[in-house]
Amino acid sequence: MAHSRNNAFLPHLFIAIAIAALLVLLVAFSLFRKDSVKEDPEAVERIRPVAIFRSAPATPPPAAEPVAAEGASTPDAEATDAAAAEATPPAARDGATVYAEVCKTCHETGVTGAPKKGDKGDWEPRIAQGVETLYASALQGKGAMPPKGTAVRFSDEEVKGAVDYMVELAR
Ligand code: HEC
Repeated sequence: MAHSRNNAFLPHLFIAIAIAALLVLLVAFSLFRKDSVKEDPEAVERIRPVAIFRSAPATPPPAAEPVAAEGASTPDAEATDAAAAEATPPAARDGATVYAEVCKTCHETGVTGAPKKGDKGDWEPRIAQGVETLYASALQGKGAMPPKGTAVRFSDEEVKGAVDYMVELAR
């Protein structure tokens, strides 16, 4: 009897040990996988910062100076020039240019009651309101006049220039 009971117990013990060993293996494997992500170059690439800030040296390295002085257009000097040209904002358009690009659409012929360019009768009551009022109407819109005449790409100063241009022509 004892013999047969012992026989039945052994396979159970074996299965229990096998399950425990499997669990240990699984835990070890999952730990190993977590570590391996750190080494995975693709994962490192994915979690890399979007931008890296590098401050330019305050003074150019002295070794570069004689070279730059001799040859006026070293690749470095050219790159710096191009960067400087890009950083310079485009020159502001004058009133006449802004007028011709947008305001003209309505103010040339007086579409939907717009005061016509150079028409003193149209402009006199407008000018009487004061130039600040005219600027505000041109920037924020008034009645059928859309803000900046729809040309939101123009700066406030450029739109004001176009107002001055029309006001001057109507005096
Ligand atoms: C879509 C047509 C349209 C365009 C484009 C347009 N205007 Fe006008 N503008 C009008 C109309 C209409 C009025 C009259 C609005 C009213 O008095 O109700 C007007 C009025 C004005 C006035 C007088 C506002 C006042 O307070 O009496 C100024 C100044 C003016 N426009 C400047 C400009 C300038 C500058 C531009 C270009 C950047 C421009 N407009 C483009 C239609 C236009």
